Amino acid sequence: MTDRPETDAVTAGRDDSRSLSPAVWPSTVWSSNGLDATKASATALRSDEFYGRYSNPTVGQFERAVAHLEGAESAVAFGSGMGALASVVLTFCGTGSHIVAQDSLYGGTYSFLDGPCRRFSIDVTFVDAKTPGAFAGAVIPGKTMLVIAETPSNPLLDIIDLDELGAIKGPFTLVDSTLGTPLGQRPLQHGVDLVMHSATKGIGGHNDAMIGVLAGEKDLIDAIWQYSVLHGASASPYDAHNALRGIKTLDVRTARQSSSALSLAESLAKHPAVSVVHYPMLASHPQHELARRQMRQGGSVLSFEVRGGVSAARTLVDTLSLARPATSFGGPETLVCHPATSTHVGMPPELLARIGVTDSLLRVSVGLEHHDDILNDLIKTLS
Ligand SMILES: Cc1ncc(COP(=O)(O)O)c(C=O)c1O
Repeated sequence: MTDRPETDAVTAGRDDSRSLSPAVWPSTVWSSNGLDATKASATALRSDEFYGRYSNPTVGQFERAVAHLEGAESAVAFGSGMGALASVVLTFCGTGSHIVAQDSLYGGTYSFLDGPCRRFSIDVTFVDAKTPGAFAGAVIPGKTMLVIAETPSNPLLDIIDLDELGAIKGPFTLVDSTLGTPLGQRPLQHGVDLVMHSATKGIGGHNDAMIGVLAGEKDLIDAIWQYSVLHGASASPYDAHNALRGIKTLDVRTARQSSSALSLAESLAKHPAVSVVHYPMLASHPQHELARRQMRQGGSVLSFEVRGGVSAARTLVDTLSLARPATSFGGPETLVCHPATSTHVGMPPELLARIGVTDSLLRVSVGLEHHDDILNDLIKTLS
């Protein structure tokens, strides 16, 4: 890893092949040289050229690229971000284990921790992680196996102090860095154990790859890999190929999106029809200084509340002409979603109210269109 992310994005995962585009290996199975060779593959750690659920050369190249960008010893890919999250939890937790997680996070992550985890008698404590010391204070020595943070958080752009998280010893610490992207922040450098991405978002960057990834120390990633082979949420080589292509342009895309997102956030913050804007690089963001310390750029996602409640939010979404109503983020097209009725619909209403996912909140994934066009579309609709 160099200190030039622009170059790293282009060279990450490069192997000694002369092909500039990575090869797609669709094979799910490789022939072996007899029983002993098969047994060696079946029992080896991260065996390659054996069976697609264990590894795949294209997926392996994607894993090496992400490890490189994160400054990690190793990485392992999954069929989605949720596949990555479920695999970490089920690698390290069992009946009677305890997890500490922030209360303001992606609705799917919350629902997994609050639903299947509790059903398996894995106890979960949700904390308001903006309160200093909240994560460490909820750790139960000997019982807490994982501390899970998401920064910036979806959809409120809360920022978690990575140094504070990295200082927690005992349980493994995990950061969902999807909104940050590997070029926007490096949680492992702050002492965090594992970094996770839904690479479906900014890393893939074109809305055509469903893939998740975890990076960290080799021993930890090997342990997760051993479980993941049984869990079966393996990444597809086609998605890995698309995500590898996405990495090459990740820096230019996120630089452009971050700059457009900041100018949109500044304009929205001045608009009389908007009551609050959440974007970490906005000077008024309550954790702006922390964001500047640990993030290289603000990212493609912002959220804001329109005055007039759900009917104003609905009118806005219905009248947009350039931006598309859709739930994902990090792609070329500007997307707008209403978290309370989509990404966060499974969370209890009282929790949504407490963390600030109101009926008036809209999330914007700022795309690659000219920033004036994005701005005009939203502002015209708000007026
Ligand atoms: C922050 C965050 N983490 C994880 C996920 C889950 O990723 P995937 O949809 O790839 O399973 C999402 C999905 O929106 C997300 O926003």
